[in-house]
Amino acid sequence: MSKISRYMKMFVVWIALLMSVTHVEAVDLASPEVFDPVFYSNNHHQVISHSVNTPEAVKQHWLTHGIDAGWQGSGQFHSKEYIARYPDLQKAFGNNYRAAIQHYLTFHSSEHRNGLSTSQNFEGRWTVSNHGIYIGSSTRTGGAVDSLTWNNKEFINSWDHGRQMQMACNTNKYTECYNPTEAGGVCDAALQTTHTHIDWVHVHGNVMESMVHPAFWKPVKPTSGTHHDCNYGRLCPAHHGYHTTYDYPFHKKITIGTHEINNCFEFVSNFTIGGNWPQDELFIQMESPAVYLTYEFSKQFTFNPSTRLAANYHDKHLPVIRSTPDHNYALGAYTPTGQDTDIHENYDSHFYKSSNFASTTSKFNVIFYKRPHGTGVHQYIYRTYFCIGTLNDVTSCLHQIMTAVPK
Ligand SMILES: *[C@@H]1O[C@H](CO)[C@@H](O)[C@H](O)[C@H]1NC(C)=O
Repeated sequence: MSKISRYMKMFVVWIALLMSVTHVEAVDLASPEVFDPVFYSNNHHQVISHSVNTPEAVKQHWLTHGIDAGWQGSGQFHSKEYIARYPDLQKAFGNNYRAAIQHYLTFHSSEHRNGLSTSQNFEGRWTVSNHGIYIGSSTRTGGAVDSLTWNNKEFINSWDHGRQMQMACNTNKYTECYNPTEAGGVCDAALQTTHTHIDWVHVHGNVMESMVHPAFWKPVKPTSGTHHDCNYGRLCPAHHGYHTTYDYPFHKKITIGTHEINNCFEFVSNFTIGGNWPQDELFIQMESPAVYLTYEFSKQFTFNPSTRLAANYHDKHLPVIRSTPDHNYALGAYTPTGQDTDIHENYDSHFYKSSNFASTTSKFNVIFYKRPHGTGVHQYIYRTYFCIGTLNDVTSCLHQIMTAVPK
């Protein structure tokens, strides 16, 4: 090898290094591809404090603490899992999570690498994905959906147990005092654990399915012995041999991409109601499901199927949409008529302001009502379709799914 070509080679290597360094500097380590302030604070509660309580302050926390600790910053990427998935990255990065994030942001699309697995659990989380939509659930929330992202934005508020996107049912006599709740009970608060018992969660590409025995939302004061470990227990009278976890399963199946509509996903809620369910109330009320969104989804609309437009929220019997004020991010729900219900299906929507952005939330839900069927065991199964995207994407998706599945 001549001297010249050796110099040439060194020069090329030097240029390549310089370029890669320049490239690395151009990477935004808090890019929404790897970091969302709501997901981050919902999953790492210790982040929020008196002084750290804005998305900007939380972002600084991520840059200075979360990245190097290997914490998950978004529902669609986890540095630790990214490294664990690829032997060459394990070799190159070990536990240098900062370098792994730089690598992901620079090369994941050209190298067709994924930041998460959609076929197995990683550190207590399951994720499925299709067409740029990611849906995640966790052991913390009893397998209930605690993350939904589209276009790199977190939609779900998972500040404490009982928000999320989840199934719940109650009797309208005892309301919250007989209220099995998929994502956990009120005493689970913001803890990492839940009184919901997970039987199993399966993920496979774009399909998530689970079966759990849900926690009762509020526990009941025991008839004997000392008080329950949670103060809320004092609010509920003892009845029906009630304990912390419901005796029957909740089963759900979510499929992203349905009826050839890419930005539509199907949510099938399957409630088992039986045995000791109270017989003396007016209705079994089933949220199929309830959805708690982040502080940004402050606008609510009713979808008008005849004009195909979003109108001001006014009708509980027409599909509901929640959106950000700029209409860039929206989620709509439609549930076909003709399902097993004693009252026409109901869409409800509320906004709850709180002391910090991460716990401020808006809720909408799809509710079915059944009169008690007696003491036998019965399954109630309801299909709801969600449309996600910009407000325009959502209205056109709602039109398509209502045409494809009129009942
Ligand atoms: C409903 O859930 C039960 C278990 O809880 C299961 O045996 C049954 O197959 C489910 N039905 C449907 C249609 O998914």
